[in-house]
Amino acid sequence: MGAYAAAYERSIADPTRFWGLAARDVRWLVPPDRVLDDGAPPFYRWFTGGELNTCENALDRHVEEGRGDQAALIYDSPVTETVRTYSYRELTDLTARFAGALRALGVERGDRVVIYLPMIPEAVVAMLACARLGAVHSVVFGGFAAKELAVRIDDARPKVVVSASCGIEGARIVPYKPLLDQALELASHKVERCVVRQRPQLHADLVRPRDIDWDEAVAGASPAGPVPVASTDPLYILYTSGTTGRPKGVVRDNGGHAVALRWSMENVYGVGPGEVFWAASDVGWVVGHSYIVYAPLLTGCTTVLYEGKPIGTPDAGAFWRVAAQHRVKALFAAPTAIRAIKKEDPEGALAAAYDLSALETLFMAGERLDPETYRWASRVLERPVIDHWWQTETGWAIAANPRGLEPLPVKPGSPTVPVPGYDVRILSPDGTPAPAGADGDIVVRLPLPPGTLSTLWQDDERFVESYLTRHPGHYLTGDGGHLDEDGYLWVMGRTDDVINVAGHRLSTGTMEEVIAAHPAVAECAVIGVQDPLKGQVPRGFVVLKSGVDADPETLRAELVRMVREQIGPVAALKEISVVAGLPKTRSGKILRGAMRGIADGREVPVPSTIEDPAVLEDLRPILRTRDEP
Ligand code: COA
Ligand code: AMP
Repeated sequence: MGAYAAAYERSIADPTRFWGLAARDVRWLVPPDRVLDDGAPPFYRWFTGGELNTCENALDRHVEEGRGDQAALIYDSPVTETVRTYSYRELTDLTARFAGALRALGVERGDRVVIYLPMIPEAVVAMLACARLGAVHSVVFGGFAAKELAVRIDDARPKVVVSASCGIEGARIVPYKPLLDQALELASHKVERCVVRQRPQLHADLVRPRDIDWDEAVAGASPAGPVPVASTDPLYILYTSGTTGRPKGVVRDNGGHAVALRWSMENVYGVGPGEVFWAASDVGWVVGHSYIVYAPLLTGCTTVLYEGKPIGTPDAGAFWRVAAQHRVKALFAAPTAIRAIKKEDPEGALAAAYDLSALETLFMAGERLDPETYRWASRVLERPVIDHWWQTETGWAIAANPRGLEPLPVKPGSPTVPVPGYDVRILSPDGTPAPAGADGDIVVRLPLPPGTLSTLWQDDERFVESYLTRHPGHYLTGDGGHLDEDGYLWVMGRTDDVINVAGHRLSTGTMEEVIAAHPAVAECAVIGVQDPLKGQVPRGFVVLKSGVDADPETLRAELVRMVREQIGPVAALKEISVVAGLPKTRSGKILRGAMRGIADGREVPVPSTIEDPAVLEDLRPILRTRDEP
């Protein structure tokens, strides 16, 4: 039996022993009484009774163990022409000081802090400073609009918000502070204090006494030490799109998270202490939380924080330049980024111009790695290109090619095999195991391994209802697919209304809510359709109220603006068609699945539940034609 199969079997047969051993790589202030607490299913807790501090594990301990002068963080920002390296000692000091500043503003263990920052070192410092105090951070991605930020503020109810004067998107400066001010006005929760990082590119007006400049806050602060927290205490809340307009606040604990991420770094990515890891994502997404910040630092690696794009900052060679300059061993990016590079540099000539000898592996996630992109990247880089599948909820890979444990043969289009700890099953809609090779709901038999979500923020009921009810005893991933005869998993796409646009997870339901509020719109549907660059893009279909005679182009522009203003530019809804009707079941449910299938060019039979087949037939030609503005 290979190393992977043996580890997998051990992890499923005896999770307590498996994760108990892995927990030895984490520094505990009080060792746990129990590895797996399964006393109250469907809720499971890891390392109960244990106390630790995640920030101490990510920073102080490495300084104490001799890594003080090693680079912890390399901030590489082509948009500001900056490269700056922070040693473990420096990052520890900065974090301790900012933790002291937060404490002076009243932040204590268990309090929430919302972080709305671009990709600057202060984002990492702020996250770790919260962890240091036992406070719970909730990072909101910069591409979201004020309203989305307000929704998150109302749900998390933070004492403090940490933000910056601006972000830099390619050549464009995006003012953050007006968005924050607007969000604070929209939110009903009252935030006591805001810390604002003034960037040289744009000065923000501060609202005194609520707002305080980052430098001012830090100047008067005394450094704070790590506060011991329970293993099961929340480390962070990260909001992610569900099927409705209300985002889900995924809660991550401290102990299970530290153990799982530490384990994943060496076993999944094959990267160990002292080596350089770069996740080209954003701290606002789960990839950024897990693999820009926590996992590399928990492991004593050097992590790269890249404020730039795959193309245009300045060209399609940017990824290869960064990888070469910082001797990156493993690069983690989204397939959409590689497709963007491929479009600009089809022969990969720019990759050939850099010394990539340190680079061992390119990891891909965020969306399915399509075989064409896989082949192109493999050819250009001449090294393993590894797809792996996971989601905000799990926080780390559910299926991967475990490069550190045992590299397995790649099958293009498959993220390879279930990762140790995840008992992945395929179930038919009626809950019975799907026949071998047949598509079904991809589920994970409970308990989920450590590091996965413990609940939704202050909403156990929604947690159970969203993930644990459809197939009792199993976690519903929301993705469909199958396992093949070799035990490889094939993830075929979401079974709900969540879409993935350029590696960004979005809810079509939220877009529908915005569109439906337009006075001319009677009803609408938004679906995700395949796109050669972004993987998927949203497409909207609206039916006008009777008697309304709106100009389709003007209406489209208004709806695009509304979605952009209320959800954010990242929603990227640009294609909207005015149609005569939407196909529905007899009970009135819009047949989005059938619409999606037709739009993606599949042969879709008329669903038996349809109320009026003629509506679908009228829509077919519209669905088949991309209506790019
Ligand atoms: N703050 C403010 N605005 C942001 C933003 C941020 N952090 N991130 C994105 N936006 C804006 C963009 O500027 C763009 O605005 P525009 O419509 O005015 O041009 C819009 O949101 C859509 O952005 P995006 O989807 O990123 O499209 P793009 O055309 O700018 O770039 C790619 C396309 C493929 C280069 C880019 O999407 C990319 O790098 N994707 C990788 C994503 C990724 O790493 N995801 C993490 C999962 S691992
Ligand atoms: P997020 O929570 O933003 O990480 O998005 C998670 C969703 O993205 C998953 O449920 C999948 O639908 C999709 N996804 C992420 N990685 C992959 C992958 N490697 N293959 C297929 N789908 C993926």
